[in-house]
Amino acid sequence: MRRVLITGGASGIGAATVARFQEDGCRVAALDIDEAALALSTAEVKVHCNVADEASVAAAVEAAVAELGGLDVVVAAAGVASRGSVEHCSPEEFGRVMSINVRGVYLTCRATIPHLRAAGGGAVVTVASQLGLVAVADAVAYCASKGAVINMTRSMALDHAAEGIRVNCVCPGPTETPLSASFFADTPDPAATLQAFKDAGVIGRLISPAEIAEAINYLASERAKATIGAALVVDAGYTVR
Ligand SMILES: NC(=O)c1ccc[n+]([C@@H]2O[C@H](COP(=O)([O-])OP(=O)(O)OC[C@H]3O[C@@H](n4cnc5c(N)ncnc54)[C@H](O)[C@@H]3O)[C@@H](O)[C@H]2O)c1
Repeated sequence: MRRVLITGGASGIGAATVARFQEDGCRVAALDIDEAALALSTAEVKVHCNVADEASVAAAVEAAVAELGGLDVVVAAAGVASRGSVEHCSPEEFGRVMSINVRGVYLTCRATIPHLRAAGGGAVVTVASQLGLVAVADAVAYCASKGAVINMTRSMALDHAAEGIRVNCVCPGPTETPLSASFFADTPDPAATLQAFKDAGVIGRLISPAEIAEAINYLASERAKATIGAALVVDAGYTVR
C-alpha cells in the first residue's frame, strides 16, 4: 500500500488527487495552509503547512511521514494565482507568488526526497501549468513561477533518477477550481475571460480536477516507470494551436 503526501491537498486538484490515490487503496496525507478546508478533507492524515516556510514544511513532512510509516509518492500541488503585468505586479506580490509556487515546490522536494530514498525509491509529481509553457498577458509572476517549476522538475529528475526516484510534472490547462475562479474574477470582464479560456481549448469546457488527478496518478505509478523529467500537458488542447 503506497504512502502518498500531497501539498495543497485540501482543495481543487490536490483534493481530487487525494481521492484518486485513495481509490487505489493508498494511505494519503494532505498538507495545506487552509485549516478549515483541511478539516473537511477525506485524507487519512491532515497536517497544517505553509509550503513557503522551511520550518513549517520540515515539521509537516516529519509529522505526515511518521503517521504514514514512510513515504512512496509526493505530489506538490499547492499554489496560488496572480494577475498583473511587470509594472502592476508589485515586488511584494512577485515575491509572494515565487515563494509559494517555486520555493514551496523546492522546500517540499527537499524535505521529502530523503524519505523516498529511505523507502528504496519513489515518485514526485509537481504541478506546473500550461502557463509554464506558453504565456498569457497580465500574469507575469504566475507565468514566471510555472516556467520555473517545469525546469526545476527536469533538474531534479536528472539528480534522482539513478536512485529510483522519478520526478515529473503535470501541466494542467484551465481547470475548474477556486484558483481559476479567482484568476478569472481578477479581470475586467470575468465572464468573457472564462469564455476565452474555455475557447482556448478544444473541448468547450474547463477541465475537471479529477482529470488532472488521473494524470498525476499515472505519472506516480509503475505504468510511467520510463517517464522521467516529463512535463505532461493536460490542457484540453490549449497549447496545441
Ligand atoms: N485551476 C487551474 O486552472 C490550474 C491550471 C494550471 C495549474 N494549476 C495549478 O494547480 C495547482 C493546484 O491549484 P488548484 O487550481 O487546485 O487551486 P486551489 O486553490 O483549489 O488549491 C490550491 C491549494 O493550495 C493551498 N495553498 C495555497 N498556498 C499555500 C501555502 N503557502 N502552503 C500550503 N498550501 C497552500 C490552498 O489552500 C489550496 O488548498 C496550483 O499549483 C496551480 O497553480 C491550476
